[in-house]
Amino acid sequence: MEFHLVDDGEGPPQPDGTRLEDLAPQPLLTRDYETRPELVYERLRKHHGPVAPVDLLGVPAWLVLGYRESFEVLQNDTAWPKGLENWRARSEGLVPADWPLGPSLEVNHVLIQGGPGYRTLRGAWDMALRPFQDPRNPQAKRLRAAVTGYADELITLLGQGGRTGLADLSAQFSRPLPLMAASHLLGFPTSRGDDALMDMWRVLDAGPDAEPALERLLVTLCDLAATKIEKPGDDFPSHLAAAHPELSVDALARELFMLLGMVSDHVGILISNTVVEVISGESEGGVRTALSAGMVRETMNRVVMRKPPLVNFVPRFAAEDTRLGNYTVRAGDPVWVSAAAAHADPVFAPRMAPDSSISSRAHLSWGAGPRQCPARELASSIAAVGVSRLFERFGHIELALPVDQLPWRSSPFMRGLRSLPVRYELTGPELRAAPRTAVDDVGEAAPESAASDATAVPGHSARRRSSLWRYLTGLIRSGN
Ligand code: HEM
Repeated sequence: MEFHLVDDGEGPPQPDGTRLEDLAPQPLLTRDYETRPELVYERLRKHHGPVAPVDLLGVPAWLVLGYRESFEVLQNDTAWPKGLENWRARSEGLVPADWPLGPSLEVNHVLIQGGPGYRTLRGAWDMALRPFQDPRNPQAKRLRAAVTGYADELITLLGQGGRTGLADLSAQFSRPLPLMAASHLLGFPTSRGDDALMDMWRVLDAGPDAEPALERLLVTLCDLAATKIEKPGDDFPSHLAAAHPELSVDALARELFMLLGMVSDHVGILISNTVVEVISGESEGGVRTALSAGMVRETMNRVVMRKPPLVNFVPRFAAEDTRLGNYTVRAGDPVWVSAAAAHADPVFAPRMAPDSSISSRAHLSWGAGPRQCPARELASSIAAVGVSRLFERFGHIELALPVDQLPWRSSPFMRGLRSLPVRYELTGPELRAAPRTAVDDVGEAAPESAASDATAVPGHSARRRSSLWRYLTGLIRSGN
């Protein structure tokens, strides 16, 4: 048996020949991970090098912390395929049936899937996203106009608490905005989408009502999938079904679930993080100036690199025994790439410095290799429209808490702000009630002029989106 010792002078030497199960890995998801994940990654790196055994809620896995090693895994889908069928411990019945991460990994959709069907499915995703991602296409223009209108509705609603006041920009803006964009993309017929959006929130928040919410949501998405297969429109489900006619109603519904989750959670995190970056000036050279110079995208690029919404990726599995870092990863062992840890790797971290002149393009926040995010442009443009509109409408926003006291929420996969308390001052004319906004008809073309009506108070759409609007109205605080 070959032995290789990790010689970092700190942790105990680790015999390379040991199996993952026998290494008695330490739990990853501790209180420290919740509050200071960078320290946890650092400790693991010191102790184990670029690849560390960890315990994920009772299941052992390899966490890839090294930038080079992460890149190696992501680039080579043959050596490190996805697909739970490749997981040795799962085939041996060693993954508990009630493993908390089971529900999010056992849903078979494009993000998780390996195997022969994957390539066709990914190709279909690329085709179905194209109309919404290329800014020259009418679908992309309509989406942009709709998101502008949604942003205005949300800001106006929030402003009903007063021209100046306190708000939670996460609950009142960053979270609902992408959900509304998702509803548009999915082509939900009127208020049906509204309830589904609320259920998506319940699922993401993993509270006591998450399970019935998930059941309801899947039924709604199955209905939607069936409708779009039968009577296609100009929306994402119809484009996906057209690009992949073999998809069953259930399979299409699972893909829609994946889209809804990605748009609502990840884009919301990106919006909140960008807002914090802009108002706290964490970035160099006065970001507010950069923003007004039309560089929201550049700010966002930095934000997504420094604070990747998807901190750890879904697992891959070693196709055969493979040397990675200081260990031999056995065939069928699960391997989790950690973008957050890889970005802190000393071989990459200097690129993240504000004054770095080295290109930061090689960051992993959107993944890398054949399975990188196909929706980067879509996600960025929804977030950019939201952030731009916010700073156009607010004359002044400041954090209501010191930046290092903002509350974060972490899961094994993502990290985002739990809330974003701000003090604001709105600009522009008095808020007035308007009979209708640009986004009354989700899925229909929104006239550009209406979409940019900064003062409209939601009329019909508010009534239609009753459950969402009731919730948001409940969050309005009176100002001053
Ligand atoms: C800020 C927002 C987003 C971020 C940071 C993000 C990031 C990522 C990352 C890192 C991956 C690679 C995961 C891996 O290698 O295991 C990924 C994959 C993927 N993302 Fe995104 N994403 C975002 C938004 C979206 C949105 C809005 C959609 C859908 C409309 C989407 C659809 C996908 C899909 C389908 C994959 C799987 C690709 C494959 O395995 O072939 N993402 N995303």
